Amino acid sequence: MAKIIDEVSRTFSEYLLMPQLTLGNHIPENIVLTTPVAKSSRAAPGRFSLNIPFVSASMQSVSGADMAISLARHGGLAFIFCSQPIDEQAAMVARVKSHKAGFVPSDSNLRPETNLREVLEIRRKTGHSTMPVTHNGQRNGRFLGILTDKDFWEFEDDLNAPVSDFMTPKEHVVFGTLGVSLHDANRLLQKHKKECLPILDKDGSLRSLVFKKDYVDHMNNPDELLDGQKRLVTGVGVNTHDYEERMPALMEAGADVFCFDSSDGYTEFQKEAALWARKKYGDAVILGGGNIIDGNAFRYLVEEGGVDFVKVGIGGGSICITREQKGIGRGQASALMAVVAERNRYYAETGTYIPVCSDGGLANDTQIIIALAMGADFVMMGRYFAMTIESPTPRVSIGGRIYKPYWGEGSNRARNWQRYTNRGAQNAGMKFEEGIDAYVPIVGSVREVLSVTLAKLKSTMCNIGALTLRTFAEKAVLTRISEQSFVESGTSNVLSLDKDIPREL
Ligand code: IMP
Repeated sequence: MAKIIDEVSRTFSEYLLMPQLTLGNHIPENIVLTTPVAKSSRAAPGRFSLNIPFVSASMQSVSGADMAISLARHGGLAFIFCSQPIDEQAAMVARVKSHKAGFVPSDSNLRPETNLREVLEIRRKTGHSTMPVTHNGQRNGRFLGILTDKDFWEFEDDLNAPVSDFMTPKEHVVFGTLGVSLHDANRLLQKHKKECLPILDKDGSLRSLVFKKDYVDHMNNPDELLDGQKRLVTGVGVNTHDYEERMPALMEAGADVFCFDSSDGYTEFQKEAALWARKKYGDAVILGGGNIIDGNAFRYLVEEGGVDFVKVGIGGGSICITREQKGIGRGQASALMAVVAERNRYYAETGTYIPVCSDGGLANDTQIIIALAMGADFVMMGRYFAMTIESPTPRVSIGGRIYKPYWGEGSNRARNWQRYTNRGAQNAGMKFEEGIDAYVPIVGSVREVLSVTLAKLKSTMCNIGALTLRTFAEKAVLTRISEQSFVESGTSNVLSLDKDIPREL
């Protein structure tokens, strides 16, 4: 007969944290959010940590190279999606690894005969207001000058006139020569009070641009995550089908952290793939397993497969319909607490610490905070990052508001059959979907959304009297709330501006 677990399967919104003693030194400035990704023991410290506990989901509509660059710059990690050909995923990794913060290849280039109307169109599409002019309009063409939006008046000048009539010609442009250090390039920008410095080779061809705003951004990003060669770090998703070809290609491209992208990781296929990777690369590979929802699966992946970290969550994702379609899953809070409890037992027994990632279903900042308080070392999010400017999807206007498409890897659109089948399954197509195709509103840049979430997290940590995430989880005391308390958690007995009383337009 089937075994029934009597305990109800719970989710994050059913809990609240109770403040603990806050001392004078418990202030946001003293908090360090460093958190482990690789397993560690007293004898062997972890091989990889994050500076903030956030990673982006291995999904087509979330984690491309731009997301990876932006997250690494803020101290987190993106898992570049594996539902694409191996060479394309490896090329994205290579783009992140070659991203020289400071020297950027020019994406929007003009020919001298391009007219202003076309310039406006390019600006509308890319948001770029500074564009180099090269003889052939290519990023490495011979440099002729530069056009910024200060050089012409959109509503006064003749939009059919060519760029050459308005650009600052090369002889009046301050430029750097290939080989100049970033430090010297920034000094040139400072000395000449410029926003952008073109870098030319000895033949006068454009090689890259250096922007003042990138310098400012760099100074504002003390959490940036770099590898031993001072390159930005990135994670990648892999599957249990083609790992023997995919993992070597991604290793070669420079990927830092690997994670199986599977809706159900409690399988022999995943154990075999993990053992293969460990045998081939030893400790040089940092490898996550999942997704799982209980202690048995934790023991299996850690003890038999030797993974570094585990990822928890089945059926909680915002675009996920797995629970409805197949009847598998578990409330995310219950799943996380079960795995964290087993992790803690395993640590007490062996002295080896296995980081736990809570994946999916985090609907707001409060739930992120509760997941970390329940012992997640870091959280993976799809929707949260899909809503940012850096996600790889185009903007769409619907009813006068701007959205971005966001679709599940188990949707027909993603065609990621591998995530839902195991090696050997003859699955040429999908018989039913486990994810939907949706839209999410744009909320800003990764920097903007993270800054709010981090401020709230740090403020809560102060309420609990914790300066590190480990202490936060150790000290956290949570209370379950009734449905009535949940209602009370919002505003109550007042009319809220916007919600109840529309503002006058
Ligand atoms: P979100 O942060 O709630 O949007 O959830 C993102 C997570 O949902 C991912 O990291 C995956 O674990 C999971 N996921 C992605 N695509 C699908 C799908 O199509 N069906 C079910 N789960 C999915």
